[in-house]
Amino acid sequence: MDFKLTEEQQMIQDAARDFAENAIMPVAAEFDVSGEFPMETIKAMGELGLMGIEVPEEYGGAGLDAVSYVVAMIEIARADGAHSTIMSVNNTLYCNGILTYGTEQQKQQFVRPVADGSVIGAYALTEPQSGSDASNMRSRAILSEDGSHYIINAKKSWITSGPVAKYLVLFAVTDPDAGGKGVTAFLIDAEQQGFIRGKMEPKLGIRASATCEIELVDYRCPVEHRLGQEGEGFKIAMSVLDVGRIGIASQAVGIAQAAYEASVEYVKERKAFGKEIGAFQMIQAKIADMKTRLEAARLLTFSAACKKQECQQTGERFTVNGSMAKLFASEAAMWITHQAVQIHGGMGYSKEMPIERYFRDAKITEIYEGTSEIQRMVIARMETGLR
Ligand code: CAA
Repeated sequence: MDFKLTEEQQMIQDAARDFAENAIMPVAAEFDVSGEFPMETIKAMGELGLMGIEVPEEYGGAGLDAVSYVVAMIEIARADGAHSTIMSVNNTLYCNGILTYGTEQQKQQFVRPVADGSVIGAYALTEPQSGSDASNMRSRAILSEDGSHYIINAKKSWITSGPVAKYLVLFAVTDPDAGGKGVTAFLIDAEQQGFIRGKMEPKLGIRASATCEIELVDYRCPVEHRLGQEGEGFKIAMSVLDVGRIGIASQAVGIAQAAYEASVEYVKERKAFGKEIGAFQMIQAKIADMKTRLEAARLLTFSAACKKQECQQTGERFTVNGSMAKLFASEAAMWITHQAVQIHGGMGYSKEMPIERYFRDAKITEIYEGTSEIQRMVIARMETGLR
């Protein structure tokens, strides 16, 4: 097994790191406080190809592979969790689903401008009463009598980039008697009549990634904007999340990496009882365990990306790999950022340093795109066949 990056992967890592350190790191704290959407840096990321890394060049993307996506996500998340959230949803939950299930016309219209960063894409699955139990949705789409369009009435919550998105992949029920098999996916244009942006969510972390409720009231969706077939929506939602979860694992690795690096620097400088605190065994144990968990999380995430690439040839599912990577990396990030706060003491708790932001940002990785409890359920169900 070769863990070396290819020349192309190395290049995207260098470009992402350079941009993250020079354009994102200096403004991350400011955006965290204001909660403002960082449109300027996101647009610049689009120009660098970071908003559609795996999207073929013919549809406006960078045309790179899954490992390139992971290395770039890690670099952006190392600078700021919020930027990496916006990048992740754009790349995977939005672009990936349309690339996999969309028609040529849908790819040209809905992927191209999002992959090149001209506009933002979002994914609307969750509803106020259905988070983990995703198929239990109430949003409804009814085909018009002449079959030309669907009338959609929907209430969606926790929509990442909802306040700024131009296009969304949205899921609604077309056959209420069919359970999960009655869900259909649609491509929605936020500038059309009937699209309403609702309440903004004030959040603990990733504060510059705007989140809001979305409502559709008698929204007319042309039948050509249905993604996949009627009833195929839940499978589309789940298979897209398989890809999304590798992105969240990468985000967790990036945040944990930042917390780890800051901790190593701090224990070499901070003195107590006449010596560097890094010379105390209790701190050494923390550093050793942080490093070990960080590297294990990184390997599991790279391994999931490699499995995804392999599965693109075989058509197999990589659900377990994505879930394992997200589960392990998110819990590692929470633990590592917790240790980082403890190592930094009062400074870890202070807004003068980014440590408390890493801690707040890490928490979401255990929650969105399927909680740790859901990941455990997915892995165990797939491994045992029992439910
Ligand atoms: N790929 C393809 N098909 C899949 C699949 C996958 N990964 N997962 C499930 N399916 C298929 C199943 O094979 C099944 O099909 P058949 O009936 O033909 O066999 C069908 O979908 C239904 O599957 P389940 O019976 O397993 O469905 P379930 O209702 O029991 O739910 C679940 C399974 C794992 C709990 C799922 O609901 C889930 O993942 N929940 C969490 C949802 C989630 O992650 N939400 C996050 C919201 S998005 C977000 O956070 C975005 C953001 O803004 C950042």
